[in-house]
Amino acid sequence: MPGTPMSVVVLISGRGSNLQALIDAGAAREAPFAVRAVISNRPDAAGLERARRAGIPTEVVNHRTLRAPGAFDAALRAAIDRHDPGLVALAGFMRILGADFVSHYRGRILNIHPSLLPRFRGLDTHRRALQAGVSEHGASVHFVTAELDGGPVVIQARVPVLPGDDPDTLAARVLEQEHRIYPLAVAWFAAGRLRLGEDGVHLDGRVLTRPLSLRPDTRAPV
Ligand code: GAR
Repeated sequence: MPGTPMSVVVLISGRGSNLQALIDAGAAREAPFAVRAVISNRPDAAGLERARRAGIPTEVVNHRTLRAPGAFDAALRAAIDRHDPGLVALAGFMRILGADFVSHYRGRILNIHPSLLPRFRGLDTHRRALQAGVSEHGASVHFVTAELDGGPVVIQARVPVLPGDDPDTLAARVLEQEHRIYPLAVAWFAAGRLRLGEDGVHLDGRVLTRPLSLRPDTRAPV
């Protein structure tokens, strides 16, 4: 991919395994994007160390010390915009963002969510999927809108729910797939193939009528 890679700022709150998948994909030869900064709302997020190891600048915007209404979103926005990114990628970022914040980044902010949206928005998705008795679970990459976990979905990866699964075994199976679909979607965006239009998600010039789906046993989305 010729040209300068798109700058991506990644927001995290914890472990940062999706961050790592993005760092690794962005470091590949001729990748269309590179992770240029990592911002955490928690000073103890393990993902910060992953960024440091990769030589990527980090910053903490601590929600606990920014309690005035709007203060956290404003500080976060300032921290992001200092890097002038082409894309903001939420990767296990566990704060709810205000409507003004989200509209500032409309069409250039993605999230990875551990369920087959629109099922199981919010927290604790694996336990809830098991309780609901679903036979299939998974993860979704979506554009972020003001509606929590409600923005247009780009791509999903499906995994079977197996007999004997508990939330941890199911989470691990889903996470493996998260690490496949998130770098893929970010690369499409950075290459100019993916965008959010007024009428929904466009990939390669066409509106998606439903999210793309990546099965664990295949390489190409369908
Ligand atoms: C991932 O499973 C991600 O999908 C989820 O948090 C985990 C973060 O793991 N995100 C959400 O639940 C967002 N609502 P990671 O820090 O190892 O990437």
